[in-house]
Amino acid sequence: MNYNVNKDIEEASKLIKYNPFYYPKFSKYSSIYPFTNENISSYFNLLNINNKDVLTVAGSGDHFLELLMRDCKQIQIFDINILTKYYINLKIAGVRTLNYDEFVKFFVIDNNIYDVFNIRSYSKIRNNLDEESLIFWDTLYTKFSGNRIRKSKLFFNFEESYNFLKTFISYLNPSNYQILQHKLNSYEHLNIQQVFNNYDLTELYNSYSCKFDIILLSNIADFIDEIYKRKPINKFKDYIINDLSKLLNNNGIICTAYMFWADSSKQKNIPFINKKAIREKFFSDEFEELLIDNSAIKNCTNDHLLIYKKTNLIINSLKS
Ligand SMILES: C[S@@+](CC[C@H](N)C(=O)[O-])C[C@H]1O[C@@H](n2cnc3c(N)ncnc32)[C@H](O)[C@@H]1O
Repeated sequence: MNYNVNKDIEEASKLIKYNPFYYPKFSKYSSIYPFTNENISSYFNLLNINNKDVLTVAGSGDHFLELLMRDCKQIQIFDINILTKYYINLKIAGVRTLNYDEFVKFFVIDNNIYDVFNIRSYSKIRNNLDEESLIFWDTLYTKFSGNRIRKSKLFFNFEESYNFLKTFISYLNPSNYQILQHKLNSYEHLNIQQVFNNYDLTELYNSYSCKFDIILLSNIADFIDEIYKRKPINKFKDYIINDLSKLLNNNGIICTAYMFWADSSKQKNIPFINKKAIREKFFSDEFEELLIDNSAIKNCTNDHLLIYKKTNLIINSLKS
């Protein structure tokens, strides 16, 4: 067995055994988001994704699945957490193998759905797993029950309801699920190994030789004080403008920060970068904010997306 898979299983097992009140910081071995908590369905409609080259954070894998469904040209994936790779492979194999209802029962925790990570579905899914992921998940299933794995610290345990998830993730609409399933099954050799890299955000700019039309950073910005101890906002902004932008094609964009509840009047309780006073530090020709409409969700204020645009930079330099 490959040494890295052994080590990854060992670390995943530790997370499964941890006290439920333990909150590991983002690292090579930290908790995985089971589903996205961003309204990707809405903001992907605002980006012109079709036929684009995209670099995205892995997270729950939903950004990747959604991009694939929307026919982007190439996708590269990065995440500081290596365990996200195994989870994306499980989700891909899940979509390939299960019908819509079985998929929802297997992956979603909701008051009305009780069959999360059930062994019946896993025994079907495993036939579609790549070699490494098969070793990873098979070993965990021999040590723990599926229910224990999914409800442990291996995953973030805030859970949105199924109805909520359906408004945020368009492949959770049954007809889109069929489209995604058809696409995944048409790639005989889809190998995440070739497109996944275990990189930290700060490593990205000198790790790729190719360029991208869109870079998706999700809400990593909410945690930049874990990366930059001093002046995190200034350093993050400089990194986007001076370093990461070098990975963009002309007209490329960096979705720099998904800003939860940016429209909320209760500015006190929202993550720091989303506060109006801090967001204003980004107001300039290079950055723009898009409104993400959450009105379909009861009692939910709108989110914003902070976008860096390479075009403006070029126009500015032409102007000067
Ligand atoms: C920021 S989290 C938030 C979840 C996200 N909103 C979603 O919808 O999936 C997304 C992913 O970012 C990764 N991450 C956090 N900090 C990172 C960093 N400095 N470099 C690379 N990835 C990072 C985490 O491991 C996690 O999988």
